[in-house]
Amino acid sequence: MPRTAATLARDEEHWQGIARQFDIEPGPINLENGYFGRMTRTVAEAYQHNIQWVNRSNSVLVRQRFEQIDALQIRRQLAALLQAPENAVALTRCASDALQSLIRNYNRLQPGDQVLLSDLEYDTVKGAVRWLARQRGVDVVEIVHQHPASFDSLVSTYKSAFERYPRLKLMPLTYVTHRSGLVMPVQAIAAAARDHGVDIILDGAHALGQIDFDLAELGIVFAGFNLHKWIGAPLSLGLLYIHPERLEDIDPDMGEFHFPSDDVRARTPYSTPNIPALMTLPQVLEEHRAMGGAAAKGARLNYLRETWSEAVRERPGIEVMTPRDPRLCCAISALRFTRHPHQQALVDRLLEDYQLFTVARNGAGFGTCIRITPGLTTPLEHMQRLIEALSELATR
Ligand SMILES: Cc1ncc(COP(=O)(O)O)c(C=O)c1O
Repeated sequence: MPRTAATLARDEEHWQGIARQFDIEPGPINLENGYFGRMTRTVAEAYQHNIQWVNRSNSVLVRQRFEQIDALQIRRQLAALLQAPENAVALTRCASDALQSLIRNYNRLQPGDQVLLSDLEYDTVKGAVRWLARQRGVDVVEIVHQHPASFDSLVSTYKSAFERYPRLKLMPLTYVTHRSGLVMPVQAIAAAARDHGVDIILDGAHALGQIDFDLAELGIVFAGFNLHKWIGAPLSLGLLYIHPERLEDIDPDMGEFHFPSDDVRARTPYSTPNIPALMTLPQVLEEHRAMGGAAAKGARLNYLRETWSEAVRERPGIEVMTPRDPRLCCAISALRFTRHPHQQALVDRLLEDYQLFTVARNGAGFGTCIRITPGLTTPLEHMQRLIEALSELATR
């Protein structure tokens, strides 16, 4: 009988088998897997093989084979990954590229309109939205989410902003926030935004590969993703999504002419891409599916996150930044040591005294926190070591 993702998530032997598919440098325990994901050994080998093939063949075969056949097939496969039509998807170099393209080319703003930024958005996205506002003569409205957040507080913060600022037209929304791992109630926020005529550009950088979502169900028409976090692709790959019925609202990028103006691929800068990395994608996607896709990866990562965060949540001296609500949780979570003013000092202690590699993140309204991100190679035992370390440090 096939096992559910939740049962599989607790099967250490199964995940040890997965972990053996990766090469891992000896050293500190990596609890900062949110930066980018490892490739499996077989993907890394295929990538190296493709580097050598492209280097040997150069443009003769790249023009004949990659451009004519592989690139088209890869785009089709990425559209299938998003459950989207092919004409909604364009390749980019990363999520930032996709999001910046969507933001700078969004053409529906008139002077006097407003755009909305919350404290939880990614800094590059915030910068791009502020830039857009200056270019188009529109105002930026900034909001800070309540902390601790709840499903209802997150939705109602947006609803209040939409009612208070009727000239709002556009907002970015981060699906999985990079500081504390809070998962935004995207569908509910998108429904409220639609009611008020506000467009959303979804930052899905941390979502793709660990959350099973359907953009149509979420009500999202513009989105940017990368493939090097939870999908397991080589670095330097991302994609942009525009619902075909909304293509006209995003201009071709800076006069881009390599594709017709009614082609979504004209919405990104044209360049020579990382061809060997792109050529590796079919294998990456096959392995992603073989691991059980986002459903299995997400369940495993959530189990690891829940193990450590629930063990220390009630401990004096520790605040876990994400709430218990499973709708708002994923692989990533964060904490802070409430008795210590400088979280970076505790990040240093975790590394020096316990060989646990984590990272401090700041910039949200709730202040600095320590981000903890297990990965697909993390055994349960590493969560036990983390729990012991956090418990000891909290008493000091
Ligand atoms: C929330 C969020 N958005 C965007 C990005 C940028 O992604 P990329 O590195 O693919 O440009 C990141 C990267 O960590 C992120 O965490």
